[in-house]
Amino acid sequence: MEQGIRKGKVIKNMLIVVLEGSPNKKGSSNLLAEQFIQGATEAGHSVQVIDAAHANIHPCTGCIHCGYEGPCVQKDDVNEIRQKILEANMMVFVTPLYYYGMSAQLKTLIDRFCAFNSSIQRKHMKSALLAVAWNNDTWTFESLESHYHTLVRYLNLKDQGMVLGKGCGTPSMTQHSRYPQQAYELGKRL
Ligand SMILES: Cc1cc2nc3c(=O)[nH]c(=O)nc-3n(C[C@H](O)[C@H](O)[C@H](O)COP(=O)(O)O)c2cc1C
Repeated sequence: MEQGIRKGKVIKNMLIVVLEGSPNKKGSSNLLAEQFIQGATEAGHSVQVIDAAHANIHPCTGCIHCGYEGPCVQKDDVNEIRQKILEANMMVFVTPLYYYGMSAQLKTLIDRFCAFNSSIQRKHMKSALLAVAWNNDTWTFESLESHYHTLVRYLNLKDQGMVLGKGCGTPSMTQHSRYPQQAYELGKRL
């Protein structure tokens, strides 16, 4: 991680990749991402957005030509995304809740980590989770939270926090909730 001195204070200039998993470009999860980015850039970090839902990303075929660390036989956007992730210090998972898990769009990208799994594990990257759901039950995010914590453990990530927006079924509901502010504060305190 690069370190810099500004106004007498040590600041950490991280490169953060934000992996967006919603088909709704102007939807609720991206609204949280936008606020997170605002906070993180104000805190002096650089952010690169990867729109996993609209990129050309094919599902892992499980062929294991990569040997779990090597070139993937599929020639799509993941080659470029891989480089961006491996240059970064932190990755942020952004997703709507779909059937109590992350969206298939985001999961499809994560499955492709298969070809650079060890590289990610070696980096000890920071991470965060931003998610939204229609439901407001206490257990709404139980499965997603558990999956995220397992990914953190397996990929040697250092969790920086989660914003789990319950009752965020539409952008308007989300806008009027406390979660955009939480996302901003999460970015700002990095
Ligand atoms: C396919 C699909 C599955 C969904 N599954 C759930 C769910 O399991 N629980 C829930 O609370 N909301 C569920 N929702 C609602 C979305 O999580 C919610 O509307 C969210 O705000 C959409 O985020 P976005 O605007 O970023 O796309 C689902 C929506 C869709 C389209």
